[in-house]
Amino acid sequence: MPSPIDTDYDRVAYPSFAHVQTFPENLANRAWLRGMDPAHPGRCRVLELGCGDGFNLAAMAMIYPESHYTGIDYSSEAIERGRRMMAELGLGRIRLEAADIRDPGIELGEFDYIIVHGVYSWVPEDVRDAVLSLMGRHLAPQGVGFVSYLAYPGAYLREMLRTMVRFHSRGAVEPSTRIRQSRALLDLLSNATTVKNHYTEWLKSETALVANHTDEGFFHDELSDTSHPVLFTDFLAHAATHSLQFLSEAEYLIPIGRPLTEVARERLRPLETNRILLEQYLDFIEGRRFRQTLLCRNGLGAELRVDRLDALSVSFDGLRDSPIVAPLEADSSVEFPSAKEAVILASRPLEKAAMLELIEQRDTLPFPVLRAAVARRMQAADLPLTEGWDQELALFIVKANAPGVIELNWEIPAWASRLPDRPQTSALALWQIAHGDQKIVTLGGTFVKMEGSLGRKLLSLLDGTLDRAGILQQIQAYISERTASGSTEAPGSPPIPAADDPQLPAQLEQGLLGLLSMKLIRRE
Ligand SMILES: C[S@@+](CC[C@H](N)C(=O)[O-])C[C@H]1O[C@@H](n2cnc3c(N)ncnc32)[C@H](O)[C@@H]1O
Repeated sequence: MPSPIDTDYDRVAYPSFAHVQTFPENLANRAWLRGMDPAHPGRCRVLELGCGDGFNLAAMAMIYPESHYTGIDYSSEAIERGRRMMAELGLGRIRLEAADIRDPGIELGEFDYIIVHGVYSWVPEDVRDAVLSLMGRHLAPQGVGFVSYLAYPGAYLREMLRTMVRFHSRGAVEPSTRIRQSRALLDLLSNATTVKNHYTEWLKSETALVANHTDEGFFHDELSDTSHPVLFTDFLAHAATHSLQFLSEAEYLIPIGRPLTEVARERLRPLETNRILLEQYLDFIEGRRFRQTLLCRNGLGAELRVDRLDALSVSFDGLRDSPIVAPLEADSSVEFPSAKEAVILASRPLEKAAMLELIEQRDTLPFPVLRAAVARRMQAADLPLTEGWDQELALFIVKANAPGVIELNWEIPAWASRLPDRPQTSALALWQIAHGDQKIVTLGGTFVKMEGSLGRKLLSLLDGTLDRAGILQQIQAYISERTASGSTEAPGSPPIPAADDPQLPAQLEQGLLGLLSMKLIRRE
């Protein structure tokens, strides 16, 4: 008997979101660096299961418009919403189908990348099995699958709070009532006692974390009837029943890059030849609660090949506005903050040289070009290039690679590194601004919050038809209109200058540079 269809996704729409770690380029990078021959991310076939309204696929298509995308979801509401969005965006290469993963009933064919984000742990057993079975049947021989899921042991902590909110809202049927009641409980739990112990400290941080969800995300992620966390090794055992095996995690290739005591490093050393067990024990050490695992066909991806970095380009998604002055030779580590809150710690001179070069160039650099620049910087500082330095440099980049931090590119990225004469943002960003979205997806696949009305107006003008004078004119007209209608800015937003303020052109340029550094402007 198949499990009953859960229609909650029709009743309460799941928030549209893009997950850059699922993008083909990220999957291709990891497969390539583990010796596979994955499809070029700009010319590939992508399938997303449980795609909701397909926003993730639309964000991918902004970057790789030539690839083909298929998304399936059984929420016909979500699919209809998505189809309207794709039609408005003119994204004919995105096919969205209302279908059940267990029996799609449509011609699917073969895919280079199959993505299943936020589904596996939230669906009944027969759907979970169908996810991996479908992947096993439709993945290309050199294809890569992405599956995210709740992981033990960390998920036990999450389950504790889930048990409480589900208990508290057990009598209510209406989603809005359940959400309201659950939020009231979170509020109580976060402030209920002055006692400080492990439990109350955990409760405080956990309630704060969960309270940050949107109502819709909270409803589906925390209050859903199904929640099925798994041990990493149990997930892989399930994948193996469909002839799929572990390739790597989606956000790192090498598991040990994280702070561990010397004792732990020593004790874990025997596991360095068994990646899977090593990952499992690291989950125990870190209390991991969520995993994003990449799968491939059996027998592939056995070896890490840092020499293959030579075929890729490297960019740093860093906070470029604060120049970092770091003498290479000084015996100290330098922190390079990235846009994604992760900090790259560079200790050795060649690591600092690479980071400084990436920041100075503000663009993606073919790895051989970066390596030559590092050699020049080392020579200029009179520092020796010790044997194997090039391998060490490659390993540093590979370890630091994560979307939104150190990125590896297969071709010149869609985001610009210099301001064009007629700046143009993505069609999806324009669409989002027109629909009042606060979080806008960038051409790097990440999100930025755009709340101030002037910034939003500026972005809405970037369709590539206006030069600076044209943009200035439109902004002046907008300011005059606002002044005439007595509109005021929301508290906390930067004040809006007067339309005839002589500083306005300079401020406009600053605003455009801000959008450029957020990867919201397309390369010419
Ligand atoms: C939590 S949402 C995740 C949406 C999106 N992938 C994301 O991560 O932002 C789960 C999605 O899986 C879909 N889903 C659940 N069971 C399904 C099934 N049997 N067949 C197709 N879609 C399913 C739901 O309709 C919903 O859109």
